[in-house]
Amino acid sequence: MFSVRVPGVGSNRVARVLAAHRARARTLDDLTVSNPTRVGLSYPPSLLQPLADPAGLRYDPAPFGMPAARDAVASHLSDRGISVAPDRVVLTASTSEAYSLLFKLLCDPRDVVLVPQPSYPLFEHLTRLEGVVASPYLLEYHGRWELNVESVERAIEPRARAILFVNPNNPTGSFVRPTELEAVREVAAKHELALISDEVFDLYPFDDQARGTAGALVSEPDVLTFTLGGLSKTALLPQLKLGWILVGGPHTLVHRALDRLEFISDTYLSVASPVQGAVGALLKHTRPLTAQVCRRVRANMATLRGLVVQFPACQVLHAEAGWYAVVQVPATRSEEALVIELIEKDGVLVHPGYFFDFPREAFLVVSLLPEPEPFASAMTRVLSRASG
Ligand SMILES: Cc1ncc(COP(=O)(O)O)c(C=O)c1O
Repeated sequence: MFSVRVPGVGSNRVARVLAAHRARARTLDDLTVSNPTRVGLSYPPSLLQPLADPAGLRYDPAPFGMPAARDAVASHLSDRGISVAPDRVVLTASTSEAYSLLFKLLCDPRDVVLVPQPSYPLFEHLTRLEGVVASPYLLEYHGRWELNVESVERAIEPRARAILFVNPNNPTGSFVRPTELEAVREVAAKHELALISDEVFDLYPFDDQARGTAGALVSEPDVLTFTLGGLSKTALLPQLKLGWILVGGPHTLVHRALDRLEFISDTYLSVASPVQGAVGALLKHTRPLTAQVCRRVRANMATLRGLVVQFPACQVLHAEAGWYAVVQVPATRSEEALVIELIEKDGVLVHPGYFFDFPREAFLVVSLLPEPEPFASAMTRVLSRASG
């Protein structure tokens, strides 16, 4: 009766242990938290006032979003050094929705998109729900993460339609380097593939001097490109459901893509008018908040690097940006066994590396968003258990 696009629904062992732990009302330090509204940031109480503007009482449906909202996004990006014409800004309800629109635009059922590995676990669901196949290319760690361009070439096949970047990547925190970007865009040009670059974390470099290649594909001359971002990370307001796609590439191809994308967006019209009316003000008023998160993730990363010195069997992998840290731990038991022990004995939740398709064990992925004191205390328990 049901579509094979939806996998059999059932919980895994970690989820069952976690549910049992919570049912016993035991406390838990959550080092997987990715929801910025739940980590003690001080949001100005009046921040959402622009949503109450009476202009939001009027509905003027526009497939790509209201012109003023598209202008506001383009102007915000221009302040960050990313120059894009407002008529190449397409508003969506989220980055996840942007992927689903783009897979509809570019792929027939069973077509292939190339995704980085390790990377964002939701790709498995986002592709599967569109009837598309995710084929991995490799990010490899040699003291820093490097994109294996040969693995991109190996993954190309007749049904390939697009190459995805996550720049900077979740959870490795690595930017795509200029040489890697250039090599992959050549592959894309040769095989007439589109490039999709998810840049939701680009406001969170660990070092102001090393800001990476985010934004580079917006002015791409030869290949059709789609650069993704949104309020979820850029303004720390995931609940408002507003994201964007910036379309780049040769003029004719961009217009052919926009015509088709308009048909798809017009079918859903999913971005609410009040948030479109408010987006310009929100992007202005959330700058102190994003600065708070930058300070938080940098401080927690420094704490982690300091702590790990006392646990020489563990290593924090080099990272450049984002909200996560990857810790390599001794592979004396499986990642799953360690994660379960950490829940049951230490009251700490972390992600196992296999969740992100690391090629081997044992890695743990931790969020750098929690408040500094609980982060330091929970992280000490994690390193101590992993080393034991
Ligand atoms: C790489 C990446 N892209 C997109 C998203 C989700 O963004 P949105 O809330 O706009 O769907 C996340 C969420 O953590 C992410 O890690």
